[in-house]
Amino acid sequence: MNFVSPTPAIQCDCREHILRITINRPEKMNALTAAMYDAFANAILAADGDPEVRVILIEGAGGCFTSGNDLHDFATSPPAGEESPVFRFLQAISGAQKPIVAAVLGPAVGVGTTMLLHCDLVCAGERARFELPFVNLGLCPEAAASLLLPQLAGHQRAAELLLLGEPFGADRAQEIGLVNAVLPDGEVLQQAYALARKLAQKPPASVRLSKSLLKRGGQRAVAETIAEEGRHFLQRLSSPEAQEAFAAFLEKRRPDFSGFA
Ligand code: COA
Repeated sequence: MNFVSPTPAIQCDCREHILRITINRPEKMNALTAAMYDAFANAILAADGDPEVRVILIEGAGGCFTSGNDLHDFATSPPAGEESPVFRFLQAISGAQKPIVAAVLGPAVGVGTTMLLHCDLVCAGERARFELPFVNLGLCPEAAASLLLPQLAGHQRAAELLLLGEPFGADRAQEIGLVNAVLPDGEVLQQAYALARKLAQKPPASVRLSKSLLKRGGQRAVAETIAEEGRHFLQRLSSPEAQEAFAAFLEKRRPDFSGFA
């Protein structure tokens, strides 16, 4: 595999036909910046184009999956349009041809949860903590979560998770179908690797074909929903509600939405 990540915050390591992508910014709970989305997208695209890679494995460094989009970025240099790194990333992960295994430890917030909707096998640690805080941030769902989560969990459970935006644990994530297995934290990476190795030993063209057939029915709707959500999301980023939410996070206080209509 020739791809070299331009940033240490996204690490790539390929062995045994498995490209391991590590989100590596533990001091900020692996919050994703524009440069990280770019590198992440490029790694997935490179894996898809490289016959040496048969499986992609995603994990976070330091006992955390990712706290989602960097909120400083949202406040000071938000994505400008549909060509932005975050959208390149969403297109890459939602359209990936190779199977994706995720190993989730600790917080998986925002896109940390929604990217799992595009993974194929997800292992979570007992203390994993998922959260879809888009409404609480004055934003709206992204990554086709408004389509895929109700499909997975049913409308009421999706509405609970997306409108209330409260954290939920690994057992709940397994109950709604978002994760395949809940394991002691210390066994998660090992189990994710075991699954990735199993996939990597299977006939690769058959695995790719089967994944594409599994996704075929929903592919166009997923792409359209990512684009539609994205248009709203970009507008919401500059809304007074979102500005108040970002300021509150940066100032380490509770947001006050009482003055909004
Ligand atoms: N963007 C930018 N910085 C982030 C971040 C994010 N999404 N998530 C965490 N950080 C930073 C914190 O500001 C803090 O930085 P500091 O040490 O300079 O103050 C550091 O990472 C550690 O985070 P902290 O909140 O102290 O850790 P915690 O264990 O108490 O909580 C989280 C972890 C993930 C629950 C919490 O950080 C959080 O809710 N983050 C925001 C998640 C979010 O809303 N993401 C956007 C989704 S669209």
